[in-house]
Amino acid sequence: EHSKPLQGKNVLITAGPTREPVDPVRYFTNYSSGKMGYAIAKAAVALGANVTLVSGPTALTPPPGVTFLPVESTAEMLEAVLTRYDNQDVVVKAAAVADYKPKRVLSQKMKKKQDEWTVELEKTTDILAELGKRKQHQLLVGFAAETQDVEHYAKDKLERKNLDMIVANNVAQEGSGFSVDTNEIIIYKKDGSKQAFPLLAKEKVAYEILEVAMDLMGR
Ligand code: PMT
Repeated sequence: EHSKPLQGKNVLITAGPTREPVDPVRYFTNYSSGKMGYAIAKAAVALGANVTLVSGPTALTPPPGVTFLPVESTAEMLEAVLTRYDNQDVVVKAAAVADYKPKRVLSQKMKKKQDEWTVELEKTTDILAELGKRKQHQLLVGFAAETQDVEHYAKDKLERKNLDMIVANNVAQEGSGFSVDTNEIIIYKKDGSKQAFPLLAKEKVAYEILEVAMDLMGR
């Protein structure tokens, strides 16, 4: 059907930040608002897909029609995504996943005694890399949030994580990236081609991303 090109397709989108606890009252996180991922989820619903939205904590209301799975930590996001991966046709990883987490989570609140407090961090699991390793029939779409050498790092992630396409955004550029309502992206595909877009509303960016994905799916 022409107006619903994603009819019958299962699309899973991750959005928002993850949150890594230090003690019962503190955590590490980042500036992701969830706007980019929620816009993709909304667009995918409008294009007819069965949409699962796995989201870290945000202030947003999930778009109508999605299966909504709220998570907090990277480990919870990993588990939510992996258990549903086999059924998906498309996975879009717009979430800003924490790269590091505290090595130890304190069971009691850290008291304010010393002048300094060192928290040791260790790497989290790279969810996207795991998905790349286990990829079968799925179309895997990653994001790259960069502040320099965007093309170099985006292409490196595309290859290393076994993606079909990667959406690069320069998050140091005004009006682009975290929290704002607009984004300026360049999409790199695994065939080596790239497509650059002007600064657009995240709603519009969402459609552009899905257009490229549908093109790769032959829809
Ligand atoms: O939420 P908004 O405020 O609207 O902002 C949107 C955004 C800037 C967060 C979004 O456009 C974006 O760039 N998302 C990816 C952010 C990110 O974590 O980029 P990265 O270059 O660090 O990671 C590369 C890819 O690996 C991402 O698809 C990320 O989801 C994934 N990843 C990273 C680390 C990890 N442990 N697991 C992952 O799956």
